[in-house]
Amino acid sequence: MALQIQKLVWRACKPTFSILLKNTYTVEAIAENRYFFTFLRRRSSTLKEDRQNKIHLEEKVVVVTGGASGIGLAIADELLCEGTSSVTVIDNNKEKLDKSVKILADKHGEDRVLPIEADVSNIEQMDAAFRNTVLHFHAIDIIINNAGIMDDGKWEKELKVNTHSCVIGTLLGMQYMAKSSSGSGGIIANIGSLAGLTPWCGFPIYTMTQFGVVGFTKALGSSKLYERTGVKVFGYCPCLTQTEMLEKPAEKSINDNFAAEFVEDTKDMKVQSPEIIAKGLVEILHDAKPGSIWVAMEEKKPFEVSMSEMLKKVEQKAEEAGR
Ligand SMILES: NC(=O)c1ccc[n+]([C@@H]2O[C@H](COP(=O)([O-])OP(=O)(O)OC[C@H]3O[C@@H](n4cnc5c(N)ncnc54)[C@H](O)[C@@H]3O)[C@@H](O)[C@H]2O)c1
Repeated sequence: MALQIQKLVWRACKPTFSILLKNTYTVEAIAENRYFFTFLRRRSSTLKEDRQNKIHLEEKVVVVTGGASGIGLAIADELLCEGTSSVTVIDNNKEKLDKSVKILADKHGEDRVLPIEADVSNIEQMDAAFRNTVLHFHAIDIIINNAGIMDDGKWEKELKVNTHSCVIGTLLGMQYMAKSSSGSGGIIANIGSLAGLTPWCGFPIYTMTQFGVVGFTKALGSSKLYERTGVKVFGYCPCLTQTEMLEKPAEKSINDNFAAEFVEDTKDMKVQSPEIIAKGLVEILHDAKPGSIWVAMEEKKPFEVSMSEMLKKVEQKAEEAGR
């Protein structure tokens, strides 16, 4: 029976999947592509909000990528603490995944956590991960595109893991959650970095990927897209956070000079705990507007970065420079 359902779902998904494979990687094509899970939990409004505009996390199904450690694990834990119904944790490190999911399951209940081993830069694996989440929890409401690496020594992999994954997670998210597809709205939070707003010169390629995440997220902030899909996409950019990612920069940078520059540039920055970053994200889930970019630094409350302010300055400068 389970196998039959799986086959049905696979057939239902095939058109979607072939769209991805046919290289029609436009948000429009994906978001407007109608396909169907008959058993996808339908709601009159997925992300019900009360009068204070607070989203009720109960009954929400969340997907967190890179959730086996660091910031992703802290986010999964915080969301479960805050009452989220269930969390799918996607990670490509099986050992870490097993260990972390056991901790989450012991703390919050086995039925609330689904571990899925997958590489976020691989479309097939991600599509299967999303499909399995729907089979298991009957919905997807919130996606946290968090998985990422900082390794300029392996820059091709870094580009794929940090940027391809964000595109794949977002486009698949649109398919599963968009009103114009088979869902009824949702939230996608793309985890970027302060390096996506102000360059980390010791890691120029990592910086490039983070500017990419910010640009992609901003470009998906159009009110028209939001009206049509009901999916809010926003970005969250932490500054230095105490995780494995920050370990051994000398082994991950282009050469010793770049590593030394990173150490020098960041020596006065306060390193934050992943738990604080996770709490900040949950705080802004309610208020973040489509396309907004938020920064978390020095363990303070997250704040929104105003791109329009920046743009005004650019316009002012352009006027001053006028011919
Ligand atoms: N730590 C920081 O200082 C910092 C600062 C700003 C932004 N960030 C961003 O936060 C996110 C999380 O980083 P972190 O610090 O928690 O790092 P981390 O190394 O502690 O955790 C990253 C997780 O992602 C997983 N992962 C890596 N590649 C993957 C892949 N291809 N497929 C699936 N899973 C994969 C890892 O196994 C790991 O569990 C990243 O996007 C990073 O760019 C981190």
